[in-house]
Amino acid sequence: MNNYPNFSNYGYQIIKELGHNRAGGRVTYLATEINTQKTVVVKQFQFATTGAHWSEYQAYEREVQVLKTLDHPNIPHYLDSFQTPSGFCMVQEYKNATSLANLATSQKWQPQQIKQIAISVLEILKYLQNRIPPVIHRDLKPENILIDDQMNISLVDFGFARIGGGEVAVSSVVKGTLGFMPPEQMFNRELTTASDLYSLGATLICLLTNTPATEVGSLMDETGKINFQQQVKHLSQDFIIWLEKMVQPNYKDRYSSAESALDALIPLEVLAPSRTKKLTQIALITIIVYTAILSAAFAIFRVYNIPVNQTIEFTKIEDFYPVKNKSKCLNRQK
Ligand SMILES: Nc1ncnc2c1ncn2[C@@H]1O[C@H](COP(=O)(O)OP(=O)(O)O)[C@@H](O)[C@H]1O
Ligand SMILES: [Mg+2]
Repeated sequence: MNNYPNFSNYGYQIIKELGHNRAGGRVTYLATEINTQKTVVVKQFQFATTGAHWSEYQAYEREVQVLKTLDHPNIPHYLDSFQTPSGFCMVQEYKNATSLANLATSQKWQPQQIKQIAISVLEILKYLQNRIPPVIHRDLKPENILIDDQMNISLVDFGFARIGGGEVAVSSVVKGTLGFMPPEQMFNRELTTASDLYSLGATLICLLTNTPATEVGSLMDETGKINFQQQVKHLSQDFIIWLEKMVQPNYKDRYSSAESALDALIPLEVLAPSRTKKLTQIALITIIVYTAILSAAFAIFRVYNIPVNQTIEFTKIEDFYPVKNKSKCLNRQK
């Protein structure tokens, strides 16, 4: 017998728990919509839970408000919300996918796959940033990025999202997850379209270095900068530079938007050329250069009628030049 709440009066039957944040009074359930037998996600917020503050309720309200305005195939659609004696519930579309955090330990991603994940998340961020005013997610991290068998990506958890950037009141509670939050978010400074890029950069670095999300702090040096270069020697210099730019502490040093980060990423080779590949390239270039020099030499020999297979000797320029040029040479000598 499980302890799941009974939502049948509201039209939903809980199947299992997907995740919880007890301190925040939130539990996320997989459920069936009884009328349609459709699988959905019910996110419950309970006031009665210890640690559940007014700001947590605001997070619930914000998620409803933001999700209602969004319409993107890689963001779960808002479906419904209802009030229970102990709190509120929001119902959203179910994505048959697992979070990157759940997969991180069981799956070692190939750098090419990680580039694909980066492109997909940037496409979603581009959609959010192109809205007027732009939407800033503010809690991008492996737990909130879902991936399915076909490598389709979905972005979930808009509880901290903000519509529009701008400065946050200094007294506000800092919202986000340490290690994935850009410095401007940690200090409640103005957020920009570059803010979510930092969190995506930190997420990608976790995947590339096989660092569990809970240990992201181990990548930080004493200045708070993410230090990962030693662990990614197999990556191309260009891809490392791109990642470094994503996680610059000062937002002005990052790409300014998801669109510019995407444009810079797409043409990049992710892997460093291997040693054998480098040697083959050098050998190929040498052969091409030699062939070009030889062809040029033969062409010159042909123009000046120089016998290719004989030793040639000449003492005067007239001996070397073909007959038609002889008069010119003689003229010049006069
Ligand atoms: N629409 C969804 N489809 C499938 N799984 C989801 C969906 N929404 C959330 N989840 C899963 O439930 C977990 C918790 O949901 P989330 O919205 O992130 O709650 P919290 O605010 O407590 O972090 C996520 O990490 C994800 O694994
Ligand atoms: Mg979450």
